[in-house]
Amino acid sequence: MGIYFDEESRLFFIETKSTTMCLAVTDTEGFLNNVYYGAKIQRDNLRYLLRTGVGPFVPSVNERDRGSYLDCARMEFPSSGVGDYRPSSVTIADCAGHDSSQFLYESHRIYKGKECLYAKLPEGSNVRMPATFDGEGKAETLEITLSDDVLGIKALLSYSVFDDSDAILKSVKLVNDSDSTVIIEKLMSSCLDLDKGVWGEQTPDAVTLSGTWARERRIDRRPLQRGTTEVYSTRGETSHQFQPFMALCDRNTDDATGRIYAQTLIWSGNFICGSSMDQFDNIRSYIGINPEHFKWNLKPGESFQAPEAVLVYTEDGFDGMSHIFHDLFRDHLIRSPYLHKERPVLINNWEATYFDFNTEKLLSIASEAKKCGIEMLVMDDGWFGKRSDDNSSLGDWVVNEDKLPGGLKALSDGLEKMGMKFGIWFEPEMVSPDSDLYLAHPDWAIAVPGRKPCKMRNQYVLDITRSEVRDHVYKCVSDILKSAKISYVKWDMNRQLCDLGSTQFDPESMGRLSYLYTISVYDLQGRLLEEFPDLLLENCSGGGARYDAGMLFYSPQIWCSDDTDAYERLSIQAGTEMLYPLSTMGAHVSASPNHITGRVMPFDVRGAVALSGTFGYELDITKIPEEEREAIPGQVELYHRYGEIVREGDYFRIAREAETVYFDAWMSVLKDKSKALLTYIQCKAYPNGKARVIRLKGLDPDSSYEIKLIGTGEKKTWEAISPGALSGKTLMNAGIIVPLLPGDYAQMMFEISTI
Ligand code: GLA
Repeated sequence: MGIYFDEESRLFFIETKSTTMCLAVTDTEGFLNNVYYGAKIQRDNLRYLLRTGVGPFVPSVNERDRGSYLDCARMEFPSSGVGDYRPSSVTIADCAGHDSSQFLYESHRIYKGKECLYAKLPEGSNVRMPATFDGEGKAETLEITLSDDVLGIKALLSYSVFDDSDAILKSVKLVNDSDSTVIIEKLMSSCLDLDKGVWGEQTPDAVTLSGTWARERRIDRRPLQRGTTEVYSTRGETSHQFQPFMALCDRNTDDATGRIYAQTLIWSGNFICGSSMDQFDNIRSYIGINPEHFKWNLKPGESFQAPEAVLVYTEDGFDGMSHIFHDLFRDHLIRSPYLHKERPVLINNWEATYFDFNTEKLLSIASEAKKCGIEMLVMDDGWFGKRSDDNSSLGDWVVNEDKLPGGLKALSDGLEKMGMKFGIWFEPEMVSPDSDLYLAHPDWAIAVPGRKPCKMRNQYVLDITRSEVRDHVYKCVSDILKSAKISYVKWDMNRQLCDLGSTQFDPESMGRLSYLYTISVYDLQGRLLEEFPDLLLENCSGGGARYDAGMLFYSPQIWCSDDTDAYERLSIQAGTEMLYPLSTMGAHVSASPNHITGRVMPFDVRGAVALSGTFGYELDITKIPEEEREAIPGQVELYHRYGEIVREGDYFRIAREAETVYFDAWMSVLKDKSKALLTYIQCKAYPNGKARVIRLKGLDPDSSYEIKLIGTGEKKTWEAISPGALSGKTLMNAGIIVPLLPGDYAQMMFEISTI
């Protein structure tokens, strides 16, 4: 494990526990090539894989051959306009308008640890960008400097590994060493060229996550075709529509086995992520900032930092891939002091009251919730300005004393007296046209002069790239947090960016806006956590439109989706769990019929599905049926009892409803394999079927386990077929039998523990 440079072969070996990436510099020109990425191999001389000795791949002999070479070589940092016609990693225009570049090896350094990434805001302050960090001296980094001497631009390519992870972290920084300004038109954080031979005769499948509001992160899988398969965002946030994620896998890869090359980006703004298959069936995968709405005028002496990309190779199927992402994010990305702590069980009043609430109503919800073991009340949208619907007041972060007499203090004192924690909703980046803030500062909204900006949800986006706007926004949030005892903030963002214009940029710098918007969000949340280190922050964006690794650097949990229908949640959560640990996934029990789908669903099933995330309630507890209220203490108790397994354990998919149609099942297993939680959801009744065999995963084959039905599952039926103590090997091969349950939507949860 680690990073090695072999002086003799002049090869770089970037090694993790089970993988090797090998980079080589071509002899004469100095192109940086990726000659191998995959399962761990010996540090052999792999220069033959450069193919520079095979005609017509002899780049140094003549220009024609260089063209052939560039047309299919496995480039690590391909540039545009010099003979490589595939999607480039970088496009730079010089002051005369030429847009070709050619980056060649200059030097490298290998060091222990990992440096932080920084971006500069317009007023000059440095912001630490979200990126994996090395807390305990587990990282090693290779920095390769490439240079285009004609442009006078250097590219610093950084590769880091951790000794406890199978991921490789990549990032790129451009430095302008020339005395003229150049325009960066495109800069990918990672490019991975894979030879056709990697896949044999079959091209791989591409797996991505797509959706929309209330339908986030569905898993899409299709065979890669010649041409380009891309997912992207131009919305100024990661978006409901696509995740910055693509996995290429063998056709027969499933959850448990099979090869996968996956990539994601630690970034919360516009992105592009794709794979392009060329005329030779070679594949180029790339991920980075979306070049659309991006142009960066890099002045002499300046540098530009692209966000960090995560690369994963595994032969252990989608479960194996998820374990690598989950562990990397838990061990090296999420900084919150709450990461390993049990989060308070919360009740949020959004679906309970929407905008129609006051102190009395909130306290009555809280007092009923307290009796059931719920620990925190979160007051959602509508507590400020004159906001009684979504038409006004964003930006006016002044407590509405008509609704909340005595202000937040009276409410938080009331809650404290009950022994309840208090959380609050903000949407700091936004302004309503109908607000005092907009009246005073119409120019603070992002807009193009002369064009009426597009309203979405009746609101505009504040230009937080301007320091006075950002400072104002920050002060509003911070003043409120100081005004009462507030333990938790839900930071929302309910519209996308468009009409990109900022009064502070000259025409040459306007293309910086969308990148700097994302950096400004990071700056605000970074400052907030510095001033309020004990604050539990939950990010949100119209549900899950900003569910990404960038936000996990600030908040240990993110609201997964506004769709709280437990059946819908099966696929939303399954997609989310491909990348993100269960501990990050806001999941609440809501009322039935569900407000979005109208679906009716038993309370215990709603509970079983929500118990796989950061658990809470999103309903008016004073109005739900008595038997549901009575079931809450039991659910809360399950969360306390099994929270650690969900939060810290390994997650395994057993069956997906998307494939089985009738049922869904998954497990979380503690790292030491001593305890596991199995959740089984029957989605539809199956006429004249037999009890199902469920094969478990992730257990210790040689340990003996007992299986206990927990919660309110079908006790009687289970007692008849419960197998008694079994070895892990038996459970993982022969499995257990779960009964067919009566009706649609039923659940069984099992504790599996060593004896
Ligand atoms: C978004 C969030 C919801 C709620 C509303 C309030 O849609 O996802 O949970 O906070 O905003 O306006």
